[in-house]
Amino acid sequence: MEAVLGLLVMSLLVSQGETLCDGRKNRTLCYGALGGTVVLQLMDNASEIPRYEWKNETTVILKGTNSSVITNHIEERSLFTLSNGTLMINNLNRKDSGIYTLKLFDKDLRISEERTLNLSIQAPVTSVQLTPECLFEGEKRISCSAGGGDSPQFSWTLDGRRLTEEELVSGADETNSVTLKLNVSGQLVCWVHNNVSNASGTMELDTCGDYLSILAGVLATLVILIVVALLIIYFLKKKQHNKTKEEDDGHELTYADVRIVQQQRRPVGHRPEPEVEYGQVKFSERPRQPGARTDDCVYSEVRKAR
Ligand SMILES: *[C@@H]1O[C@H](CO)[C@@H](O)[C@H](O)[C@H]1NC(C)=O
Repeated sequence: MEAVLGLLVMSLLVSQGETLCDGRKNRTLCYGALGGTVVLQLMDNASEIPRYEWKNETTVILKGTNSSVITNHIEERSLFTLSNGTLMINNLNRKDSGIYTLKLFDKDLRISEERTLNLSIQAPVTSVQLTPECLFEGEKRISCSAGGGDSPQFSWTLDGRRLTEEELVSGADETNSVTLKLNVSGQLVCWVHNNVSNASGTMELDTCGDYLSILAGVLATLVILIVVALLIIYFLKKKQHNKTKEEDDGHELTYADVRIVQQQRRPVGHRPEPEVEYGQVKFSERPRQPGARTDDCVYSEVRKAR
């Protein structure tokens, strides 16, 4: 469980940043690592070539004869070896990218050969990070990120072999993230490369299932506790409500000792209105509610006077 959730393994195997490129064929594409070194084979044996000139779009970089170098525009960070026709350039920078033209001359200083070379400087991959993530239903997604590298390309292995269709939920082998099925475990390696570097990151896979079942248990317990708590609150409220209602009932209008004394018969048409006498008019203590009945007074000893 912890292995998948918390672990962030990063291991790195970056190649030395030195590339070798044979530029003896026309239109060769060569790569160099930014800050690194490239060794370009420009010709066979310079000692057998009367005159040669290597230039980029604007500037002559290298000019020489079969016995010596006449001009080296980047002398402080390069070395030309006549005997094997190689030019080693150190401390490569982005500006070194471009198309270079080599001209070879014969004894009579006529061009005997001309060819181009395309040099591309790429930043090497400096770090590889694997980020695991448990998905729903125990699947896990592992993302691989390459630090620093230009145009990184990804591939994956599990315990030293390629991932199979049975293990993958999604994410092809050549993407920077893979989604693996529930019970896939082992040592997962993300390989990153570009034209100037290789690097890899390794992590030990664990199943997300264990984690999920624990999580499910915790969640179920929580839900039960919440339901019990809600039920307790509900019944307490209900009980309190009933009690209040009973108290309210006690304040309702009470007539006590209402007596109507029958009047003596009088001749018709001469019947005086009966007078009502109220004694001890009490009001309940209950505060007035808006819209509530306003006649909850208590009459006691209501007597009809003669
Ligand atoms: C290069 O050419 C020179 C002159 O022909 C010869 O002496 C030398 O051995 C050659 N070097 C290689 C490495 O072939």
